Amino acid sequence: MAKFKPRVFSGVQPTGNLHLGNYLGAITRFVALQDTHDCIYCVVDLHAITVAQKPAELKASIREVTAAFLAAGIDAKKHIVFNQSQVAEHAELAWILNCVARLGWLNRMTQFKEKAGKDRENVSVGLYDYPVLMAADILVYRATHVPVGEDQKQHLELARDIAQKFNLDFSEEIAALGHGDTFFPLPEPLIQGPATRVMSLRDGTKKMSKSDASDYSRINLSDDADTIAQKIRKAKTDPEPLPSEIEGLAKRPEADNLVGIFAALENRSKADVLETFGGRNFSAFKSSLIDLTVEKVTPVGKAMDKLTQDPAHIDAILKQGAERARVLAQETMKAVKDIQGFVR
Ligand code: TRP
Repeated sequence: MAKFKPRVFSGVQPTGNLHLGNYLGAITRFVALQDTHDCIYCVVDLHAITVAQKPAELKASIREVTAAFLAAGIDAKKHIVFNQSQVAEHAELAWILNCVARLGWLNRMTQFKEKAGKDRENVSVGLYDYPVLMAADILVYRATHVPVGEDQKQHLELARDIAQKFNLDFSEEIAALGHGDTFFPLPEPLIQGPATRVMSLRDGTKKMSKSDASDYSRINLSDDADTIAQKIRKAKTDPEPLPSEIEGLAKRPEADNLVGIFAALENRSKADVLETFGGRNFSAFKSSLIDLTVEKVTPVGKAMDKLTQDPAHIDAILKQGAERARVLAQETMKAVKDIQGFVR
């Protein structure tokens, strides 16, 4: 296997309000990787339009996700922050990978089945092709590590399958052009931390989601202290006190979720949190969780608010990021075109 320089890539969709699930499951993980890796963080606006978006809201959401990256502590000078549509090579590589990926592979994608529901004949072709564009996002930078939530694991496996098939299908050309025996690395998912899946506050078996009808199901990064307190106080629980051991969370999805949120916010393990709260009742635990959430989340919301008041500043960061990303992506595309046999 050829050796690849470790490089992190990940993306967040600009669709509506960001919530604690996006923050703990993705953005804080992105922040943590900055000390050890070269990172590329992308606002995936081409993915967002796989379902209808109002253009004015899309633009605001792109800036909002960028503001969240910056507010959370992503350093856009040391690393790369940009929006996907400014680097045309993502879509260009996606087309080539469309001709590598097999229909049978895409037909297995559970997220498509969930999102399309019963209306399969009437969703966009883009929604179906979404995972191939995601593979292109990663592979156009030949990224090796991809921090994602649990729900994206299958898409990462698909990206690996696509990379592997490309490497095999064109192995002769890849070797002849001096790339050794593999052109694309097989990107590894990084699914880490106590909150890889943050669940709804109203139902511990459902993912926290911006599309849930009840705003009480989620904590938005823009929520103020009172709203956060109210939502956590109303969060569903069960009548038992908290367990002292992690095994005790097994059939208690709501308890598991709240303990996971606490652990992620404090950068501790769930076991460690239970050492403190095991045997205590939910009202005591919730009070501490409220304090902690307010302490950690409201400054991010406030910083985002400030940043989004200066859209020109955000747009300049995205533009600079896109220029740097494009240099890397163009290098890959040239090599891919040579491997594929295109004239350039
Ligand atoms: N599909 C991812 C999500 O919804 C977002 C995404 C798009 C992504 N392209 C990516 C994540 C590439 C990691 C790498 O969360």
